[in-house]
Amino acid sequence: MTEIFLNLLKFFPPEIAHKLTILLLKIKINKNKKIFDDPVLCQRLLGLDFSNPLGLAAGFDKNAEVVIPMLNLGLGFVEVGTITPQPQKGNNKPRVFRLKEDLAIINHLGFNNTGCLKALDKLKVLNSDPSFQGVVGINIGKNKNSKDSIEDYLFCLEKIGGYGNYITVNISSPNTPGLRDLQLRGRIENLVKSIQKKQKNFEYLLDKPIFIKISPDLDDEQLRDIALMSLANNVDGLIISNSTTKRSQSLLSHNKNEIGGLSGKPLFIESTLALKKMYALTNGQIPLIGVGGISSGSECYEKIKSGANLVQLYTALVYQGPKIISKIKFELVDLIKTDGYKNIKDVVGKSV
Ligand SMILES: Cc1cc2nc3c(=O)[nH]c(=O)nc-3n(C[C@H](O)[C@H](O)[C@H](O)COP(=O)(O)O)c2cc1C
Repeated sequence: MTEIFLNLLKFFPPEIAHKLTILLLKIKINKNKKIFDDPVLCQRLLGLDFSNPLGLAAGFDKNAEVVIPMLNLGLGFVEVGTITPQPQKGNNKPRVFRLKEDLAIINHLGFNNTGCLKALDKLKVLNSDPSFQGVVGINIGKNKNSKDSIEDYLFCLEKIGGYGNYITVNISSPNTPGLRDLQLRGRIENLVKSIQKKQKNFEYLLDKPIFIKISPDLDDEQLRDIALMSLANNVDGLIISNSTTKRSQSLLSHNKNEIGGLSGKPLFIESTLALKKMYALTNGQIPLIGVGGISSGSECYEKIKSGANLVQLYTALVYQGPKIISKIKFELVDLIKTDGYKNIKDVVGKSV
């Protein structure tokens, strides 16, 4: 039944297909199932227990509506958002494009979401469910017309930060004008310091690790600046990476010149390179989440060997459906054991 539904989805425009998927997930049984992962995949990181390293990347569950059904598919964690202080519609449609021949997506959604307060209601319900026990990240951003970007992040942090296990500060989506400038030297440090100050003022935020999500399009100097800033300010973790605005010559699909962030297979090499560089620049001292183009166990393994403690995916789920989750985990366990490692932690950064 689910298989038929998934096959039908590709005949719908991408955004409608996504809406139908969320609808289907919402009507599924919402009790949190216990998934038993192979112990080689389990790790404790920043005070959180992950039963496996494979998480859902931000953008799929923008409004925190399907956390439990996504965890029930076997993911080790789910990141919701990007959530902005005020609700916003995002950019004009069409704004999501499949690049089938390239196993990629281009989107210029522009943080369409129901806003912080609606998300708060959803997250409160989730936290009050006694069956709920997964790891949830809350990805926060700024409104398009915000006058003060930092205030937007601080607002979200204060309102909803207490209802997740970690927080992601998204400063790398290509579809909100000026957002990626927050990655620049000085500006990023200012943002990080403001966030850490806010965190110190609220007890419920003290144990929440904060990740900064960065772009794969940063040059070496910018990566170095972020690494040094992160080390100097004890940043908890970095997520590498968001989608890219670059277009490789090898893209085949007729949609390749659409505006927005490119994700999926063609992003794998660039995002993994940025990950590797960041691992080296930070001497492996800062936990990293590797994202971009993962569609198999071996790509997942490569991200981990390149320095990622955890990984996330989105686009491959669109092309391969939820069965990809158990397939990746199965292949990953096999690779870890074949190489003689006892636990996923032992693999981190091994090829850097
Ligand atoms: C349709 C779509 C919407 C996205 N929305 C967000 C978002 O709101 N916030 C964010 O941080 N990343 C967003 N992303 C980026 C993903 O989280 C991820 O970083 C990127 O897609 C690379 O992973 P992938 O190749 O596995 O898809 C979005 C990606 C897609 C495809």
